[in-house]
Amino acid sequence: MSGRFYITTPIYYVNARPHLGHAYTTILADVVSRFHRMTGDATYFLTGTDEHGDKIVQAAQKEGMSPRAYVDEISGLFRNLWPELHIRYDQFIRTTDPSHKAVVKDILQRIYNEGDIYFSEYEGLYCFGCERFYTERELVDGKCPDHEVAPEAIKESNYFFKMSRYQQWLIDHIEAHPDFIRPERYKNEVLAFLREPLEDLCISRPKSRLQWGITLPFDENYVTYVWFDALLNYVSALGYPTGDLFHQFWPAAQHIVAKDILKPHGIYWPIMLKAAGIPLYHHLNVHGYWNIAESKMSKSLGNVVEPLELKNKYGLDAFRFFLMRDMVFGLDSSFSEDALVGRINADLANDLGNLFSRVIAMARKYFDGVVPTPTAHTGPESGLNLMQEAADCLEQYRKAMDNFQFHKAMMAVWAFIGQMNKYVDVTAPWELAKQSGARNELETVIYNLLEGLRIVSGLIHPVMPDTGAKMQRHLGQDPDAPFYRMDTLSKWGTLPSGNRLPKAIALFPRIEQTPDPAPAVDTAGAAELREPKPEIDMETLQRMDLRVATIIRAEPIQRAKKLLKLEVDVGERRTIVAGISGSYRPEDLEGKQVVVVANLKPAKLMGTVSDGMVLAAVGDTGLSLVTVDHAIDPGTPVQ
Ligand code: MSP
Repeated sequence: MSGRFYITTPIYYVNARPHLGHAYTTILADVVSRFHRMTGDATYFLTGTDEHGDKIVQAAQKEGMSPRAYVDEISGLFRNLWPELHIRYDQFIRTTDPSHKAVVKDILQRIYNEGDIYFSEYEGLYCFGCERFYTERELVDGKCPDHEVAPEAIKESNYFFKMSRYQQWLIDHIEAHPDFIRPERYKNEVLAFLREPLEDLCISRPKSRLQWGITLPFDENYVTYVWFDALLNYVSALGYPTGDLFHQFWPAAQHIVAKDILKPHGIYWPIMLKAAGIPLYHHLNVHGYWNIAESKMSKSLGNVVEPLELKNKYGLDAFRFFLMRDMVFGLDSSFSEDALVGRINADLANDLGNLFSRVIAMARKYFDGVVPTPTAHTGPESGLNLMQEAADCLEQYRKAMDNFQFHKAMMAVWAFIGQMNKYVDVTAPWELAKQSGARNELETVIYNLLEGLRIVSGLIHPVMPDTGAKMQRHLGQDPDAPFYRMDTLSKWGTLPSGNRLPKAIALFPRIEQTPDPAPAVDTAGAAELREPKPEIDMETLQRMDLRVATIIRAEPIQRAKKLLKLEVDVGERRTIVAGISGSYRPEDLEGKQVVVVANLKPAKLMGTVSDGMVLAAVGDTGLSLVTVDHAIDPGTPVQ
């Protein structure tokens, strides 16, 4: 339904403190809801905590607290963390809220009245960690796959929800709506599961075993199974069945979850909705896990990443950007601080930060800090039309955001930033400034760049709201106005000429990586290298001893991602360390002939002495080694 958007996160269990995984899902929901606000959609964003069940009682006992006091405390940690990460939710729901409990009872009664809940004795294998029964088939080596403990055999009379009755209906619905569950791999996973007979779901727990739950409306000796309670938060929060919010937003519902809770959301939940006579949600969006060095993040492994620590160390916007840019939605990703620093230095400090400060500095230098008036928007014959580039970027960005492909949306913005960097090089404003007849051209070039930056500031708003606002302020705009509205972003030429530009600041200072020294050749330095260098004479040039070298062996250097150790033949054997691993694999280099500076003073890089330097062309997207046209003796001089 266009014009409305309702997004939810899972409601998190309060048996553990919030970590990177919870922060990722919730930041993602924030990014999506900010994006929908940009497009003008009425948007509602729900998050909260899941507070009933065995797990919570056990965690409270461990802390020596009553369940009530314990859930209040941990729920508070979640609720207070989100604003620190600039997550703007509309509602924070708790399953212990009286209004939620009333809705759970109401829906249970409806389904019971319809005859979809029955009472029966059941003997089965129960995992207390998962709070559910397992079938033999689901166990791995006789153990619960999640908790790796053997479930206990228990026999109990309980209430069951007739899920089996809806199995074929659900298959038909998923097949008729191919993006009901997305990305596709998770739809396929659910369909594969539905190929086996669906067992009815045990939805009660006897009070003799568990009291911390919502009492069944039709039998006070039982409480509700935690998933039956938790899933209903998505409608209870909207005031089901009569609330205005429910009427306004439920038809536009989309959920975000990770793959761990695909089954409850992809199977139980649609069937519960159908049985209760509530229309289904629109999309279930399923993402992968953040792993730490290939293993799952867990308290027991001691590798839990604290979001606030990362925020304090690297800055909030950089942290949010990294999460959105580095995870391909749907797939697992490996988290490391090295990768985070790499992104900050390359994408943020170098590509965006340098462009921003260079353009503002040029506008201040050539136009006294006032946005010039362009003569024509398309600008000079540079082979680049920034207005068209911006339109293409907007289109790709919008499509990617609608499809939950956040990394692609960011790539589209960074491709545009790359084009702007290229535009600076090609138009060379510093040259135009020297030519008396090129004033109009210079005005247009600088205007186009400032206008491009205005568009970038709006497009990054969902992911980096502070940086977007900072850029606006430095473009002489009101940072509190809704500068990120899609309709203004798509109108080229909106930045008013005459705006005064305050002195530029460094948006993202570079982070020095102590274990990774600046490599011999580093694409991150491309922008600095681009500036013309002062003239040199023949004598200076001839002091360089350039030679052809044959690469004999190439191998990575531990702890230095960009560096390769090269054994070369330059008429003699040498070791050269080169920062080229982003563009070349070691196995592709062996036998290649390259050009090296043979008389460069040796330097120690990551414990290896580099005796010379390999030459390469360094561009924004990677580097290309300087080679010779046909095979020639190693050691041959290059002049
Ligand atoms: N309480 C249930 C959800 C009920 S929703 C009606 C629950 N809670 S949880 O605290 O375990 O949260 C699980 C969710 O936290 C995942 O689905 C995901 O959104 C997030 N993540 C937890 N660990 C994660 C990673 N390592 N990586 C990415 N997201 C992860 O399940």
